Amino acid sequence: MKSSPQVTVIGAGYVGLVTATLLAEAGIKTHILDLASPKIKTIKRGRAPFFEPGLDELVAKTIKNNRLLATTSYRQAVPSSEIIFCCVGTPDKKDGSSNLGYVHKALRTAAGLAADGVVFVQKSTVPAGTGQSLIKTINKMAPGLQFSYVSNPEFLREGSAITDSRHPDRVVLGGDSPAAIRRVAGLYRLITKPGAKYLQTSLESAELIKVTANAFLALKISFANSIAKLAGQTGADIKSVMDGVGLDKRIGRAFLNAGRGYGGGCFPKDVAGLIAAAAQSGADMTIMESVVKVNNSMPNYVVKRLSDQLGAKTGQLVAVLGLSFKAGTSDSRRSPAVAISNLLADCGYRVTTYDPKAVIANRQLKTAVKRLPNLPAALKGVAAVVVATDWPEFVNLDWSNVKGQMAGDLVLDAMNCLDDAAVTKAGLRYTGIGR
Ligand code: UDX
Repeated sequence: MKSSPQVTVIGAGYVGLVTATLLAEAGIKTHILDLASPKIKTIKRGRAPFFEPGLDELVAKTIKNNRLLATTSYRQAVPSSEIIFCCVGTPDKKDGSSNLGYVHKALRTAAGLAADGVVFVQKSTVPAGTGQSLIKTINKMAPGLQFSYVSNPEFLREGSAITDSRHPDRVVLGGDSPAAIRRVAGLYRLITKPGAKYLQTSLESAELIKVTANAFLALKISFANSIAKLAGQTGADIKSVMDGVGLDKRIGRAFLNAGRGYGGGCFPKDVAGLIAAAAQSGADMTIMESVVKVNNSMPNYVVKRLSDQLGAKTGQLVAVLGLSFKAGTSDSRRSPAVAISNLLADCGYRVTTYDPKAVIANRQLKTAVKRLPNLPAALKGVAAVVVATDWPEFVNLDWSNVKGQMAGDLVLDAMNCLDDAAVTKAGLRYTGIGR
């Protein structure tokens, strides 16, 4: 491959912008292309349009040295690019299936402008079989264009996206052009630390690897939550149980943390997509239907644990700490913390919330839920505290100090992330999930 191909990354979300800035940092002239002009304006000013640790600095650095070129124009970016990454959203439709409209539109537009020899790299999460239909779309849109298509699913997590991209467990490349796969692998070798594993598969296998990995992680979480409900009844402690279970190398401890369930832009959507794809092809996916059922039950389970202890007296004040779907991100898409806040309001509690970073649309929270700008304001006079996101500033709270600000004494650890002994020592009542 040539030493320095130009690259276009379509879609300036978590996956696209992180990929683009890392390539630019490695010296590749990279266009970051997004139709949302406010996003592009922010990037041009040297800032990331959302919170992701380390990303602001990377954007600033690569914009300044002119390696990262931000644009809303396909015409400006695509014709000179040899490799085009597609990182646009694939939101789920009402029936759970993936909306592939943005992916088709992005590749149709790019195909109409691309030069011969171009490689299209699909990083958006798409159901197995999508690549073949996209190849047909490109052929139709740009008859005679010589191109290759590579499926390259992304496994980065929000909150650690840059580290995950530099230290991937594996780079999966699917397709039937070994030359195109070599070119894409060459780009990755510039940004991944030595030791990364590269796996070459068929197009369809690469597509299915991505959703299967996310589905399995979601399954582990719902499994842990199911056992937590049992542990809660038997007097066992789910943390110790999963420590013991996870020591089995065949199982592993990761993603067995019980709590208020999973949220975010990936797991709920990818699991729904897998179920919808299975339904379309007649494959049995009841296992994942159960995973969704358990996950959907968790916010209610948390609220029930709280009301069992606080009693049904309406109007009591409860603080929910955390709104983002996990610590380290401003993302609150499908956040169980938001669901818990709204359910508490539905049950007649007055709810205060605080989150250091979450970006929340007004309509996401019910009017009885008040978002406050700092912790002391959120804690003042509350009967109970629910820790719904594992931000370090909540995990490391001085509980004697918290007690001084509360009217009541109940602490519900909906992420099982607190030191229960420290909470109890401060004279507060600790309750976790399955503990
Ligand atoms: C996930 C995958 O991990 C990543 O590989 C993929 O590329 C995108 O989807 P992300 O959505 O950023 O990443 O978050 P992740 O860290 O996986 O957490 C997802 C949700 O599961 C969060 O709400 C988290 O709080 C919850 N979770 C995670 C648990 O409830 N218990 C666990 O043990 C682990």
